Amino acid sequence: MWLRFKTGMKAMKLSVIGCGYLGAVHAASMAELGHTVVGIDVDAAKIDLLRSGKAPFFEPGLPEILESALASGRLTFSTDMADAEGASVHFIAVGTPQRKGEQAADMTYVNGAVEGLIPFLADGDLVVGKSTVPVGTAARLAKQIAEKSSAQLAWNPEFLREGFAVKDTISPDRLVYGVPAGDAGVQAKAQLDEVYAVALSNDTPVVVTDFATAELVKVSANAFLATKISFINAMAEIADATGADVTQLADAIGFDARIGRRFLNAGVGFGGGCLPKDIRAFTARAEELGRGESVAFLKEVDAINLRQRDRVVEIVRDALDGDVFEKKVAVLGLAFKPNSDDVRDSPALDVAVRLHGLGAAVTATDPEAVANSRRLHPQLVFAAESDVAITDADVIVVVTEWDEFKALDPVAVSKLTAGRIIVDGRNCLDPEVWRAAGFTYIGLGRP
Ligand code: UGA
Repeated sequence: MWLRFKTGMKAMKLSVIGCGYLGAVHAASMAELGHTVVGIDVDAAKIDLLRSGKAPFFEPGLPEILESALASGRLTFSTDMADAEGASVHFIAVGTPQRKGEQAADMTYVNGAVEGLIPFLADGDLVVGKSTVPVGTAARLAKQIAEKSSAQLAWNPEFLREGFAVKDTISPDRLVYGVPAGDAGVQAKAQLDEVYAVALSNDTPVVVTDFATAELVKVSANAFLATKISFINAMAEIADATGADVTQLADAIGFDARIGRRFLNAGVGFGGGCLPKDIRAFTARAEELGRGESVAFLKEVDAINLRQRDRVVEIVRDALDGDVFEKKVAVLGLAFKPNSDDVRDSPALDVAVRLHGLGAAVTATDPEAVANSRRLHPQLVFAAESDVAITDADVIVVVTEWDEFKALDPVAVSKLTAGRIIVDGRNCLDPEVWRAAGFTYIGLGRP
């Protein structure tokens, strides 16, 4: 399927510590490209699933490469850190979630992974940090590694998007290597070049830099994307107050190549395991560095983002004459974005929970994220099919723009329910088509 190793490229032995969204995809993709890879995780259930070729989460393309890489014998999984021994490059791909009750990142897993790996490192090995970390972490870890081994550290942030994770890993749009100064850095770069030989042979741009820059590239990229989304959501609020249309506004400003149309979709806002916690951790770290004011705007970005959830709930309430109590609400979408079953910090799930909390009779559905949502919020009523959720609903709320929701036929929907109100929390439907079918259509920042 992918352009594999060309003659002369060297297959390497790699370990990947942490087999979540990032690590499982990285391990399978690197094995698919021709390297021999062991994926290591403390979660035995996850490792069992991966060993049997099953992805522990929904990610298009992952089951296929897991299967082929396992069949090739190049990919193995283990719960034992000792199995990292013998690999020459070790990727740290564990999570850095938001600390409970705080804005900062929880570094427990990164620290534990590095500490656990050190006894199995050999001379010349390279430890490669992929996790998103507060700036300064790599320098600290490099010292810690140097005290107990002669391995080197590099920081190589990952920019994959869920839903496109395999493609983004195998054909990244850029590679960033944060390496130490001097010969150690030259050696680390050479090792990373061997790992990424296929991407490099396809002219993938590489930025070779220091640790701090590499760490900051990652958080600043996510901060920029979050800012772009909150910017357009702020414009949607202004559009609502003026009768303007934010989707046309986004198209028009997006034609300016300096601005670009991507990530200018107004709606219920960003969620997931990255953007929300990364902007908070970045703010917390900047404050620790005495530079809080430099990124104070990220608090506003966060506030604008969270406000969109309130707004969707308010719109639903207003559409039902101010009272959602015992009204039947169909919530279409639970995942934080389409093509994912991830509900971490999902605006869609949050809207469902809030409406339920206000006494609405919510039935929520999602093509992939029902199981994860039920685990977190067993109090909600879930439906496997959108038809079931929609039947007899007083209002329909679209909060994740899955293709199957975008393709809903308003005429068919109108036969399932007498309630003719649709709230488009992702501005992903055609207002004219829904209005023509007799619906009251309400988007965000759209007349
Ligand atoms: C994000 C970044 O896009 C990746 O580059 C990065 O590697 C990743 O975080 C990470 O740090 O691991 P991801 O969380 O998969 O990737 O999701 P995005 O595609 O960035 O979407 C984030 C959220 O923004 C979603 O809830 C999405 O619905 C929302 N969004 C996106 C909008 O509300 N409007 C838009 O125009 C675009």
